[in-house]
Amino acid sequence: EWTIENFIDMEVEKIQEQVGNRNVLCALSGGVDSSVVAALIHKAIGDQLTCIFVDHGLLRKNEASEVMDVFADDMQMNILKIDAQERFLSKLKGVSDPEKKRKIIGNEFIYVFDDEAAKLTDIDFLAQGTLYTDIIESGTETAQTIKSHHNVGGLPENMQFELIEPLNALFKDEVRELGTQLGLPDRIVWRQPFPGPGLAIRVLGEVTEEKLTIVRESDSVLREEIAKAGLDRDIWQYFTVLPDIRSVGVMGDARTYDYTIGIRAVTSIDGMTSDWARIPWDVLEKISTRIVNDVQHINRVVYDITSKPPATIEWE
Ligand code: XMP
Repeated sequence: EWTIENFIDMEVEKIQEQVGNRNVLCALSGGVDSSVVAALIHKAIGDQLTCIFVDHGLLRKNEASEVMDVFADDMQMNILKIDAQERFLSKLKGVSDPEKKRKIIGNEFIYVFDDEAAKLTDIDFLAQGTLYTDIIESGTETAQTIKSHHNVGGLPENMQFELIEPLNALFKDEVRELGTQLGLPDRIVWRQPFPGPGLAIRVLGEVTEEKLTIVRESDSVLREEIAKAGLDRDIWQYFTVLPDIRSVGVMGDARTYDYTIGIRAVTSIDGMTSDWARIPWDVLEKISTRIVNDVQHINRVVYDITSKPPATIEWE
């Protein structure tokens, strides 16, 4: 009989047999798939697993510390956090084309990972959170491939590792169940999808530190209010975007000339198509008021009411 408990027992045994007394490396992004694969392998081989977590400075508010809390502190895993913010930001300087931004981030991720992996000795295996759907979808020309997707899981091709992909027969809902069984908290298991290039594709055009702060702070307000309203499991993805628009506003007696923030919130089954979420107006009102009050340089908030197609979920 196929149950998650049986699956865990079987996989743990399989991994132990395959790895023996050798060592495994895993790129941890904090996303559902890489988190579950790390937890599963850790259960099997403990300290023979080392995870590399690259903080590219394009993460959401508190994300890096939350990942470290769960994996380093609670689960006591070997995890190397690489602070690469400056590396990424300097490479992105002056670049405004979305595809170029994606390429730079994808490549830089590989360089950083490569550099760190090279410092480790005695690694024979690389663990990846490849799902069944990743396998059947790759090779088919889907709407996904319209944008070049550089997942944080995508790794150097020239690395001489044997791959371990224990999730490659599972669907997303099974992976979530597995994560829960392995003791991962809900905020990891039920995390909304987050693109590999992170906030860099939510700051439209050139990425600067100031703009990253605006999008990070407004996103944090949005997430807080969506959670407070109990909508976080109903909405597939919700985030803010910072278009390169400034407009006139008034605050107190003074005229302002500042940025507009866009709210994107969609319902979807698989991200291939989506509809805009019918967030209650009073919730939207609260979000708007809080963003303008709490986030500097925002004087206008707009809500994106386009479905996919014709729009995409992200704005870049
Ligand atoms: P779009 O914007 O194409 O997004 O409707 C569909 C889903 O894919 C995510 N997305 C990405 N994920 N790297 C990723 O890992 C990317 O470059 C990327 N671009 C979009 C998006 O967040 C949504 O869930």
